[in-house]
Amino acid sequence: MRKPERIFARDEEWGHLVRFASRTTDQPRLGVVSGRRRQGKTYLVQALAEQTGGMYFGATEATETESLALFAAAVGTHLGSPSPPRFDTWDDAIRFLFSIDPSSGPFVIDEFPYLSKVSPALPSILQREIDQAASAGRRTNLLLCGSAMSVMGGLLSGSAPLRGRASLEMVVRPFDYRLAARFWELADPRLAVLVHAVAGGTPAYRRFVDNDIPASVENFDEWVLRTVLSPVNPLFREARYLLEEEMEVRDSALYHSVLAAVAAGNSTRGGIANYVGRKSTDIGHHLTVLEDSGLLRRQQDVFRSRRSIYQVAEPLVVFYQVVMRPQWGLLESGRAPNVWEAARARFSSQVVGPHFEQLCRDFALAAPAGTFTELPGHIGAGVVPDHSRQSQIEVDVVVLAPTVPGQRRKILSLGEVKWGEVMGRRHVERLERARQLLSRDYDTSETILACYSGAGFEPDIDPAVLTVGLDDLYAVGP
Ligand SMILES: Nc1ncnc2c1ncn2[C@@H]1O[C@H](COP(=O)(O)OP(=O)(O)O)[C@@H](O)[C@H]1O
Ligand SMILES: [Mg+2]
Repeated sequence: MRKPERIFARDEEWGHLVRFASRTTDQPRLGVVSGRRRQGKTYLVQALAEQTGGMYFGATEATETESLALFAAAVGTHLGSPSPPRFDTWDDAIRFLFSIDPSSGPFVIDEFPYLSKVSPALPSILQREIDQAASAGRRTNLLLCGSAMSVMGGLLSGSAPLRGRASLEMVVRPFDYRLAARFWELADPRLAVLVHAVAGGTPAYRRFVDNDIPASVENFDEWVLRTVLSPVNPLFREARYLLEEEMEVRDSALYHSVLAAVAAGNSTRGGIANYVGRKSTDIGHHLTVLEDSGLLRRQQDVFRSRRSIYQVAEPLVVFYQVVMRPQWGLLESGRAPNVWEAARARFSSQVVGPHFEQLCRDFALAAPAGTFTELPGHIGAGVVPDHSRQSQIEVDVVVLAPTVPGQRRKILSLGEVKWGEVMGRRHVERLERARQLLSRDYDTSETILACYSGAGFEPDIDPAVLTVGLDDLYAVGP
């Protein structure tokens, strides 16, 4: 089954869906497709339903009665019957669904959380029908799809009724930075980093800006003003919507502040709590919700596993928090040029800088074979205490070999990242010092020191040091 031309990339996801839809056993199948909004879930599952002759139903926010009527209409259309069925309860509706000849392709229920929010019994009803279909040897294929990560994530967890019944659990993620560059048709890596630092890898955002793509780095500022900073552009309010869709309205102020704290560079739980003026224990729930919904990423310090570092996972949210939120009023009244002028330095240091570090870690994870002496087992950032100098060294890209029981962990690489600095001897000296300090607890015999720079390297840099420039970052496939 061919993937439609209009769908860019997503070959792997498409393959999983096609395999799910092609029936091979006499058993019912449940698939769950989740992922943050606007990543292209509907785009994929709708195409699947179309190509297989299956049924697609996209739920909306509605009362149970209205949802049942809309569902009945979708079932009617799928069956091509002149008069659609009538359902009084989800019990009726789901029983009917499982009685339809399944050979016509999968049944897709999109935006499932809208339904289960109003009708909390729905997952148990589905569980019952799936179990009955299993004992009757019916091969109904049901695909549940949805964006509210808090709901979708919980669907198959712990004691949830549908737990253990799904044969496909797929998360549709943003495009990797290299795919995003291809999707936006950006050939210049510097421009690709800048655009990715604003729009990230969410496919829908290219349409949000009406395919407006900056022609060169020189045009980037104009592009920012025309798109994300323009109150009439859909991207302008998107970061706010992203939060509001996931957060409990009751506490949205605290969620916004937590994200602002992290975007401003407060990466530890204590630091975040301090910034928002609460106790560490009072923000635990908020951090978990933000992490579950894919807006925050928690990473362990590779050298001190008890220390977690938080990062904002969605570039647009960082951009909003650092550039837009502090001047929201001015932006709404059309004063974007002034705001951007004043925010440019912060954009470089707080948005692009940390973003570039993450891209370099992503690069290291997928680096071509032979870059390090072994394939990486784990990649992260870490802090090395330097007691004799009463200081510490932050290492941006730490590449560890896979753990081997009974042996000291091997460090494959220690790397420093600078977006705006030409890198040379002093950066290498810091890394050498870190390697020396770490050699007490780790195997550093194969540690390659690495400099990742957006501005180039001094000509006399030690040739043993791995240098990764912008072209290298984009040279390898995702
Ligand atoms: N793989 C893709 N190739 C091209 N455009 C895409 C792709 N995925 C998503 N889009 C664009 O993003 C828009 C939003 O996608 P959608 O499927 O509605 O997201 P979701 O259901 O995850 O919220 C689509 O209408 C389409 O314009
Ligand atoms: Mg959708």
